[in-house]
Amino acid sequence: MDAIYNHMQPFLGADDASAMMRIAESLQSFGTYADEASSDGLGEKLPQRFDAAFNYIAHGIEGTGNADDTRTASHRTNYFRETYAYGDEVRAPGIEPFMQHSDLQDFARKVSGRSEIVPAIVYANLLIPGQELAVHTDVPEFRGANRKVLPQWLLVVMLHSGLFDAWRIPIATCVSWFGTAQGGAFTFYPKGPNGPREAIPAAHNSAIIIDTDKVFHGVERVSQKMPELPPIEKSARLHFLGDNAWQLRDGDTVLGDYDWSQIRYSISWKAYCFKDAAERDLWASGTDDLSVDFIVNRLEEALRDQGALTGERPEPTAFARLLVNQFVRFPAVDTAAA
Ligand SMILES: [Fe+2]
Repeated sequence: MDAIYNHMQPFLGADDASAMMRIAESLQSFGTYADEASSDGLGEKLPQRFDAAFNYIAHGIEGTGNADDTRTASHRTNYFRETYAYGDEVRAPGIEPFMQHSDLQDFARKVSGRSEIVPAIVYANLLIPGQELAVHTDVPEFRGANRKVLPQWLLVVMLHSGLFDAWRIPIATCVSWFGTAQGGAFTFYPKGPNGPREAIPAAHNSAIIIDTDKVFHGVERVSQKMPELPPIEKSARLHFLGDNAWQLRDGDTVLGDYDWSQIRYSISWKAYCFKDAAERDLWASGTDDLSVDFIVNRLEEALRDQGALTGERPEPTAFARLLVNQFVRFPAVDTAAA
């Protein structure tokens, strides 16, 4: 089914758009996404988003099989992220009106078809020249199952399996872009993984609102003139130096200097979309929460029903890979647009 989405250009008033640049500067430095993600529980030897990472290494962003080696791929996709607001916790003062923006809530109602909208998080991503973001779907949530209690790839498997839809909390995501970096278009599959790939330029002060938990999407490479991307380990940080200057450092080692005009800057706003107050209250009460055993057993049963598993359940890493391979269908290689 085609996804409903809304593309907004311009998105905010000119002053409010500039204020978003100042908010990034006010945080002074951004850590890496890899540093944020932690791993525990099932398949603990695997990265949180191995579902997207393995597909990326095999096929690249274009789906044409031209990916880098694993190490370069991790530098290329280890972008920089900081949270601006999470629930009532504000980490970037000045973001509050954006978090509660009534237009965004109206668009979330339209995109989700649900009336009770609860803003959940606002965070920012920075990509330096040469970086891109693997095609993926975002981490969904279900009653009792979120990234605090389950590995991210398992939540993704749960969504794509369709077995837990009765517990799912749809999330509307607004991705907005600020600044003048070249490249870094938002690429997505609004007609599903078998439909054509489309792209929206990451133009200053524009935005899309869409269900990124269901719609595969990624970020095309941010243009680069320099020959190579520096090594970006999880301890690297991107620091704002003032006067439009950013510097990439790992400890005391300077890895690169950038102008604001080279940095791709996006802000993501996510809101829970409940069908009514009763569904919101059911979620908040925790009385209809899924348990880990129920989830894993139901998935295992489905694997057996589909003939993908016979005999004993394999060890956790192999089981995790089997689940992703069976239930997460990435966009087909031959549908990539030119
Ligand atoms: Fe995403």
